[in-house]
Amino acid sequence: MSNRNTGLAVEAEGLVRSFGSTRALDGLDLRVPAGTVYGVLGPNGAGKTTAVRVLATLLRPDGGTARVFGHDVVRDADAVRSRVSLTGQYASLDEDLTGAENLVLLGRLLGLGRVAARDRAEQLLAAFGLTEAAGRQVKKYSGGMRRRIDIAASILNTPDLLFLDEPTTGLDPRSRNQVWAIVRAVVAYGTTVLLTTQYLDEADQLAGRIAVVDHGRVIAEGTPGELKASIGAGSVHIRLRDPEQRPQAEQVLRASLGVPVQLAADPAALTARVGEHGTDLEAGTQAARALGELAAAGIVVDDFSLGQPSLDEVFLALTDHPAVPADERDDELEAAR
Ligand SMILES: Nc1ncnc2c1ncn2[C@@H]1O[C@H](COP(=O)(O)OP(=O)(O)OP(=O)(O)O)[C@@H](O)[C@H]1O
Ligand SMILES: [Mg+2]
Repeated sequence: MSNRNTGLAVEAEGLVRSFGSTRALDGLDLRVPAGTVYGVLGPNGAGKTTAVRVLATLLRPDGGTARVFGHDVVRDADAVRSRVSLTGQYASLDEDLTGAENLVLLGRLLGLGRVAARDRAEQLLAAFGLTEAAGRQVKKYSGGMRRRIDIAASILNTPDLLFLDEPTTGLDPRSRNQVWAIVRAVVAYGTTVLLTTQYLDEADQLAGRIAVVDHGRVIAEGTPGELKASIGAGSVHIRLRDPEQRPQAEQVLRASLGVPVQLAADPAALTARVGEHGTDLEAGTQAARALGELAAAGIVVDDFSLGQPSLDEVFLALTDHPAVPADERDDELEAAR
């Protein structure tokens, strides 16, 4: 097919997949433009991995259809397999082999000759900053190194579509940044990336378009900007000098802005949306007025900012529950292993 970089990499309509009484996919629709990073964003159990497994032909759907570069995932599964690669949430390299040995072995399995496999392994190890760790057993890799070698393994043969299932869950910020750089490089090479994530900022950073998935279906879709715009012009973030004044500040803000006020994890902080559809005042005017009313009530504001709503706020607005509970944010590396 000629549509490696044009048209749709994925076209799924009404996908259904149940496990017993759990409808993991409940009518999922997805259209992924080729040549881009597409984010599938959702909380634990939303159906992200199930969707990826169906699209990668590892799991048959109970209903609906899906095509990858025009090939039906059930009827033309072989054609689909020849174009895709998957870095799973639970990707399996041989733990007892070194990084280099794993890549050479996989390269050989993919049909590369001995020399070509070694060259490709060396090239990938260097590109992913793993040259020094090349001779170490994979089971001794850190979480970040492990994610990088997983991705390296999945692009040995430069797939047209790469599935990355939560590639950065549980990683520290530095390792996440390394993985993000790799994702950008992979896309620059012409591979389409379908990335699942629970991290709203990750989708925001990487993805051209995002599908927000909850309970096995897409509840919103668009560019990060469109998703943010759909819930209002922006939000005002306020930090009080005295956390004890927060209940009073919440009342003043709610009355002034006419919207619910969110209490942040920081006991001195509050957030509220401004510039909602249907209000005639500009976001800045609304925020300025609200600040004036806080001052008039004797509430001291230490810090204040007016910005676009975060995808976290988008998620809350769409689902009535936060995307990721705050206490699960900084999982230890082990939790992701
Ligand atoms: N093999 C299975 N057997 C039984 N239930 C399953 C199986 N795979 C998934 N499920 C259920 O289907 C639902 C969707 O699971 P899935 O793994 O697709 O979610 P997810 O969005 O990938 O979540 P996470 O962010 O935790 O990885 C969940 O309720 C899950 O328990
Ligand atoms: Mg998953």
